[in-house]
Amino acid sequence: MYLITFATAFISLFGYTGSSCTFPTELTGDWISSHKGEITFSNESTHVYNYPMYMSATVNALNFSCDQQSGRKYLLKSVGAVEAFSSYIDAYVCIELYRVSAYKFYYYIGTAESSTNSDYVYGRVNGTVVDITEACNRAEPYEDSTFVTLVKSGAVDSGKADATCPDDLLASYTNITYTDHAGASACSGNSENGCSNKVLMTYTYESCTSGSVFSANGSFHCIHSLTSGSTTYLSVWNDDVTVDDSSTYRFTCLAFKKEGTTIYATEYPRFCKDTTQSSTTVASPGIVVVFESRSTTCVLTETAISSGWWIALIVILVLVVVGGVLVGVILMKKHKNKINMLELVRIS
Ligand SMILES: *[C@@H]1O[C@H](CO)[C@@H](O)[C@H](O)[C@H]1NC(C)=O
Ligand SMILES: *[C@@H]1O[C@H](CO)[C@@H](O)[C@H](O)[C@H]1NC(C)=O
Ligand SMILES: *[C@@H]1O[C@H](CO)[C@@H](O)[C@H](O)[C@H]1NC(C)=O
Ligand SMILES: *[C@@H]1O[C@H](CO)[C@@H](O)[C@H](O)[C@H]1NC(C)=O
Ligand SMILES: *[C@@H]1O[C@H](CO)[C@@H](O)[C@H](O)[C@H]1NC(C)=O
Repeated sequence: MYLITFATAFISLFGYTGSSCTFPTELTGDWISSHKGEITFSNESTHVYNYPMYMSATVNALNFSCDQQSGRKYLLKSVGAVEAFSSYIDAYVCIELYRVSAYKFYYYIGTAESSTNSDYVYGRVNGTVVDITEACNRAEPYEDSTFVTLVKSGAVDSGKADATCPDDLLASYTNITYTDHAGASACSGNSENGCSNKVLMTYTYESCTSGSVFSANGSFHCIHSLTSGSTTYLSVWNDDVTVDDSSTYRFTCLAFKKEGTTIYATEYPRFCKDTTQSSTTVASPGIVVVFESRSTTCVLTETAISSGWWIALIVILVLVVVGGVLVGVILMKKHKNKINMLELVRIS
């Protein structure tokens, strides 16, 4: 009881920043979100600055404070009322946060998409009390595929945010076909090398007149992946110096499945869509990618000698050692007998 009163007094004394929760301290600094591009977490881990969001002709980014936390869920609340949709509102964004390393996190957006600005935001007339369960209004469980990757600024360049590409992509292909989401504008004969560097996918594009491949130079870093059912979802970073965010993007997400030596994939800007994206179907402006003519694979085969063989090998070794000892003992006995006999002969 006293403890609670003390804690309350402590919070009201020191909670003057208007923030009642804090993000993990590792998040301090500049990060690149696969959804939002560059965002900044404040030094005190209480705020997110310059989170791009279109609210009106004059407001296209918001500052948020960490307002409430429940387990992995954090509720971000706009700092100050936002003049939008012809009234003053408090804007909220709910995220469910996961750590991969000090340089890489991912999160699920826990707020449903608002039809007003086609972004994930929950708005209420300013001053209204909003509970985290009210603003985290996206249906759960969230589709696994819809994770948003967050990498520390500079970490991809320094190699600290890379992940080894998924096994099925550790190969090279000489006939990759791109089509748009509807299967039109096919462009075949592109190739990809996934073996020179296992954290990179390096594409060589044919000069096709139509269609998009989301990158000018075709160099992608594998950043994070997860497998759900039989489909793998992979977040990749495009190494292009600049991207225009309409035909090329910093982040894209691949949903893929391997059948025989063919990989069926779809690719979507920023982060993977909900159930509308599978290894063969995707909404606009997504693209369909089929990897054929596999030339080499470079999967590490650490399990080449199965555990059964290891056991057999150990048994054989043990038998050899035991056999050796036995033979040695027998030989020594024989030798001793010989000596004894010699002694007997000498005595007689
Ligand atoms: C945050 O900390 C960094 C490094 O200590 C400093 O350069 C920067 O000015 C600080 N930013 C703010 C807003 O206090
Ligand atoms: C967000 O905060 C920064 C630093 O405090 C400030 O310069 C900027 O104007 C703020 N942006 C908005 C939209 O309030
Ligand atoms: C809502 O925001 C406006 C503009 O900042 C302000 O004048 C008003 O007092 C706010 N109302 C509440 C209830 O916070
Ligand atoms: C490449 O793949 C496309 C689509 O499957 C096919 O039509 C074409 O013949 C293939 N080209 C080569 C050289 O294998
Ligand atoms: C593609 O790579 C070349 C050579 O490294 C570089 O000069 C160019 O800026 C790159 N283009 C983009 C869009 O990143």
